[in-house]
Amino acid sequence: MSSSEPAAPAALPRTVGILGAGRAGTGVARAIARIPRLSPGLPEVRALVAGTRRPSAVQRHLTVYAPAAQAVAAEELAARAEVVVVAVPREDLDDVDPLALAGPGVRAVVDMTNTWGEEILPAWLEAGPDDAPGTARIAARWAAAGLEVPVVRALSEVSHHDLDVHGRAAAPRRALAVGTVPAADASDPGAVVAARDAVAALVTAMGFDAVPYEGLERAAVLEPGGAGFGVAHDARELAALLGVGPRD
Ligand SMILES: NC(=O)c1ccc[n+]([C@@H]2O[C@H](COP(=O)([O-])OP(=O)(O)OC[C@H]3O[C@@H](n4cnc5c(N)ncnc54)[C@H](OP(=O)(O)O)[C@@H]3O)[C@@H](O)[C@H]2O)c1
Repeated sequence: MSSSEPAAPAALPRTVGILGAGRAGTGVARAIARIPRLSPGLPEVRALVAGTRRPSAVQRHLTVYAPAAQAVAAEELAARAEVVVVAVPREDLDDVDPLALAGPGVRAVVDMTNTWGEEILPAWLEAGPDDAPGTARIAARWAAAGLEVPVVRALSEVSHHDLDVHGRAAAPRRALAVGTVPAADASDPGAVVAARDAVAALVTAMGFDAVPYEGLERAAVLEPGGAGFGVAHDARELAALLGVGPRD
């Protein structure tokens, strides 16, 4: 999806649920609030945010950090959203029930987590002999738990600060990766394509070039220490890092 292509309005989720009201979650909510300015003419996208505290407490927090977003109870994310973004620290992932992330309209669950600093990870997320990046472990864990909605790796390699300032209405635009398992390997390939397209449309609407890729093991370059983490690449550079053609 090059910068000359418009976001696909049909794939754009109208409601995005964000689990986690910290720096990452509120950064995504602010990026959603900028869509009308960066991508005028697109349908409205609402951001719902849930944290560990009750919605009224989260709403007070949002008044400062993401005033256009609505605080809701965690259960409401799955009930109302088309895309649910998981923006909690990896050390807290055992407190997240993957099945509670799926709802009637949810097309994609976005993993935007990274292993950061000296986090004490759940044992299942510790690096193993296969050296799979964390996101591959998370997607496999959630699928094994019965989550049927495809997991999409996105928004993890960009800081909340850069998410605030790097979105552009026109080229040159920073690229952000949108990863899935290979659709051909999935039990429902169409669902994987729909999940990828929904997240890519959201990323594009936020003012970035989406670079889709298949195979979550490629995400190793996007995790802290990788060449794709925290660096503003264009679509060609990011596709090369991920080992995919710009249109793959
Ligand atoms: N910060 C960034 O710029 C950035 C960018 C890309 C990706 N990420 C990744 O995003 C994840 C979150 O990072 P962060 O910087 O946003 O951390 P943070 O500022 O510490 O915020 C984490 C938030 O998650 C909430 N939380 C924890 N467990 C939860 C649960 N079970 N249900 C709902 N909410 C829960 C916390 O709520 P309480 O405070 O109430 O516990 C807190 O509001 C990390 O994996 C990080 O690597 C961060």
